[in-house]
Amino acid sequence: MAKQEKSLHMTVLMTPDMGNFSGNVHGGSILKLLDQVAYACAARYCRHYVVTLSIDHVMFNKPIKVGELVSFRANINYVGTSSMEVGVKVIAEDLETNTKRHTNSCYITMICVDKDHRPTKAPELEIETEFERQLFEAAKMRRELRQEMARRNAEITAGIADYNTDVNT
Ligand SMILES: CC(C)(COP(=O)(O)OP(=O)(O)OC[C@H]1O[C@@H](n2cnc3c(N)ncnc32)[C@H](O)[C@@H]1OP(=O)(O)O)[C@@H](O)C(=O)NCCC(=O)NCCS
Repeated sequence: MAKQEKSLHMTVLMTPDMGNFSGNVHGGSILKLLDQVAYACAARYCRHYVVTLSIDHVMFNKPIKVGELVSFRANINYVGTSSMEVGVKVIAEDLETNTKRHTNSCYITMICVDKDHRPTKAPELEIETEFERQLFEAAKMRRELRQEMARRNAEITAGIADYNTDVNT
């Protein structure tokens, strides 16, 4: 049986169109690339069309500068029925000083969908190493946290009149 393709690395040069006025890269430019790499990783893993369900909170603890080379290391950490957690580690490389920094990591949930965009089964994840098992267990706990967060958010907003129906709020 063919080995599953669980990881995907994408490297992108940070060009001036991705930057803000101070020469750092826009957070939005990084978010777009995170979504793209998660899409490519999940679609290749499934050999199927996938859509983004959620991107967990992203912290920009360290800025990335225009001119740096940024690597996005994506991995399928967890597969449920239709959902997959893609973990993405972001590494920025200063080409002149030859230094690398881990700037942030984030978790993106992708859903395998059929031609009518309804969730459909993704291939079961074959866990081959102890590290992969640890990634799987941690991702499973994050999935429970997301579900809990969705429940809590629904409770929080439930009492606010028109919050869920009025498009102007
Ligand atoms: C993604 C989408 C197809 C899911 O549809 P849905 O009716 O919510 O599907 P389900 O309720 O069957 O959930 C699908 C999976 O997501 C998981 N899920 C849904 N909400 C979740 C939450 N808050 N936390 C964690 N997992 C969640 C479910 O557990 C399920 O996983 P599983 O199949 O592995 O068990 C639908 O929400 C959609 O089309 N969203 C828009 C996607 C898109 O366009 N993205 C780009 C934005 S511009």
